[in-house]
Order: sequence, then C-alpha cells, then structure tokens
Amino acid sequence: MKRPAVVLGIESSCDETCAAVARGPQRILAHAEASSLAQHAAFGGIIPEIASRAHLESIAPVVDQALRRSGTAVRDLDAVAVTQRPGLIGSLLVGTSFARALSMAWGLPLFVVDHMRAHLYAAFIEAPLTFPFVGLVVSGGHTTLYKVSGLGREALLGQTRDDAAGEAFDKVAKILGLGYPGGPAIERLAQRGRPDAFSFSCACEGSDFSFSGIKTAVLYKVAELKRTYGALARETVADLCASFQEAVVSDLVAKSIRAACRARTRVLAVGGGVAFNEYLRRRLREAAPAGLRVLIAPRPYCLDNAAMVASLGCRMASERNGR
Ligand code: KG4
Ligand code: ZN
Repeated sequence: MKRPAVVLGIESSCDETCAAVARGPQRILAHAEASSLAQHAAFGGIIPEIASRAHLESIAPVVDQALRRSGTAVRDLDAVAVTQRPGLIGSLLVGTSFARALSMAWGLPLFVVDHMRAHLYAAFIEAPLTFPFVGLVVSGGHTTLYKVSGLGREALLGQTRDDAAGEAFDKVAKILGLGYPGGPAIERLAQRGRPDAFSFSCACEGSDFSFSGIKTAVLYKVAELKRTYGALARETVADLCASFQEAVVSDLVAKSIRAACRARTRVLAVGGGVAFNEYLRRRLREAAPAGLRVLIAPRPYCLDNAAMVASLGCRMASERNGR
C-alpha cells in the first residue's frame, strides 16, 4: 500500500503566519502560528504593511516550530504547499516566496493552494471526502456557494454581491464600538440579546448574498436610538447583536440548504472564519433535512490556518501521484 504524502503547509494570506505538517489529508501532525492581530487592533482593521512586516519576522520560526513539533525531518517531507491567493498581496508574497525557496532548497514539489478551496476542504479534515457536495465558504473576504464534483472542479452557485458575511460582522462591531475582529464579540453579546428585538434582513434574491444593506440598516438604527435615548444601553447593544446575527445566519442557512437540496447532493460542507460561530453551526444542523449531512470544518480549522493548506496539499499530491 502506498503511504500517505507528508506535506508542509504555509498560510500567510492575511494577519496570521501559519505552518502545519500533515501526513495525509486527515492527519495533522502539528500546527504553529504567529499573529499580528494585536498590532492592528488600534486601527479597527488589518493594515497590510504591518501584516507583511510581521510575516517576514515570523515565517522562519513558525515553519521551524511546526516541523519540530511534528517530529518531521526535511527528508520525510514529500512536498510543500502554500496559499497563493486570494489575500493581501504583500502578505501572500512573503509566504509564497518562502515556500518556493524551501521547495527549491529541499528539492521538493511545490503545490500552490487557493485559500477558498483550502477553507472548503477543511470540512473534510475529520470526515471522509465524497463527491459531489455543495460547499459554503463564509469568511472575512468571501461568502461563496459551490457545487463540487471533484478536486479542482468547483462550480460557482452564488456569491456575495458586496460585503462578505465576516466583513459585515466586523463592520457592525465597529459601529457598535466592539473592536476588531467583530465576529467573536458579536457572537458573545448576541447570547444575551433577543434575536427578534430589531427587524433586520439580508435581502438578495436567488443564490447570491448581500450584506452591505444590513450593515447600513444597523448604522441607521444605532443613530436613531442614540438620538432618542442617548448612549446605547448594554442590553440594547446585545439586542442589536442578536438581531443582526439572526438575520445573517438565517440567510446563510436558508440559501446553503436550498442549494444542496436543489443540487441533490448528500453533503453540505461549510468552512471559513464565520463557520466558527456556534449559532450558525447549530442552525445549519437543525435545518438539514433527512438525507443531507452537514459537515462543518472543525473549529480549529475554521479561521485562517495552515492545517487546511497542508491537508489540501496532501490531496493534490496524491492526485498527482495517482495514490
Ligand atoms: O477565514 P478567516 O479567518 O479569514 C478570511 O479568510 O477572511 O475569517 C475571518 C472572519 C472575520 O471577518 C471574523 O469577524 C469572522 O471571520 N469570525 C466570526 C467569528 N469568528 C471569526 N464571525 C462570526 N462569528 C464568529 N464567532
Ligand atoms: Zn480565510
């Protein structure tokens, strides 16, 4: 029997510098990361120049740490995989240049990975991969639905026409003064709020998404509340968070389940940073009709990470070697 490929994965598309080693797509041996998030917090968003400089400082120690933690020697590696796009260009350049240099120095093949596909296949790190499936990638930069009939055969079913869902969480958090990134803060406050306190919606027909309007609706509602009552009470902020989250989650759940039913696939796979949200995870599972399995990326593999890159790199390596 052929042995599974051992792949070093590198991810540097935004503010996280990550490296991981996988022995086959479902066995993550180690993961290491450094984040420049704290350096961006004061600006309310990611500053590309700061992110690139931080990647330059962290990439070598992070890769070294992942290799040491995994107990893997360079001679055990079969390939290097790296996120090539999409992302911040300066950040991506650091990861791709470093990975290219390693692959040349170590004489290993280099697999370039699309960040969206890495998020998509993260749902299968702990579950068997079967085709076809419908996939939802829901992150800070994307909200996209695919029908996937094979590795590299991802047909677009729908995508956001403006902001991504994670971006809407971040912008609404900024409006409410909750800091960056917004998703975790909104989710936490929403637990104490009433989802039906305010009526928000994400109006967009068909399988496309639109989250720009709901952000503006929250902005206007906050201005109106402040005009009427002065500073927002803690309960009101919680109600705004719960109502906003309710509208976004309902839209994501309805459209992804409908797409899977229409495509007649037995699996709906979900990945990306917003998939970390427990309310979304629960609502997706509750809404799945009999015969549809909802596979959500395990939480350690939702936010940007290199395990998903190494795992997909293993799949690409096996496909190339016919194993
Ligand atoms: O996948 P990711 O780490 O980076 C991109 O590829 O964009 O996703 C980051 C996004 C951010 O917008 C962040 O606010 C959102 O994921 N996020 C969440 C949660 N945790 C992170 N959104 C909703 N609920 C969460 N718990
Ligand atoms: Zn991402």
